[in-house]
Amino acid sequence: MTAADTPVLRLEAVRKTYGRDRVVLRDVTLDVPPHTVTALIGASGSGKSTLLRCANLLEEIDDGAIFLDGEEITDPRADPDAIRRRIGVVFQSYNLFPHMTV
Ligand SMILES: Nc1ncnc2c1ncn2[C@@H]1O[C@H](COP(=O)(O)OP(=O)(O)OP(=O)(O)O)[C@@H](O)[C@H]1O
Ligand SMILES: [Mg+2]
Repeated sequence: MTAADTPVLRLEAVRKTYGRDRVVLRDVTLDVPPHTVTALIGASGSGKSTLLRCANLLEEIDDGAIFLDGEEITDPRADPDAIRRRIGVVFQSYNLFPHMTV
């Protein structure tokens, strides 16, 4: 695989649970190719925000791996601050700043 077709973001069999038995992400595998827009669609409570929080390392995943530009960011040795300088999340309502634009 060349750099040109390495996914910008890759989730590989990501599993995320809350508590003992609330499985929110069950083996989610997803590639976001360079220069593309990916929309995540699902019912309220289906895990969209959880997936984004996992990708930004705001939540720890239970299994699987997440890669940014081919580099595993869920590796325990990865530096979350350095990674968050390369990937951001805009939170949904109640956490937006009404006086600021994108
Ligand atoms: N910190 C938490 N502790 C326990 N359960 C949680 C936590 N955060 C989210 N959940 C649960 O995980 C599930 C997925 O929530 P999430 O917020 O990811 O859904 P969503 O797809 O973003 O929903 P919406 O469309 O309403 O934004 C829901 O059942 C929610 O109640
Ligand atoms: Mg949400």
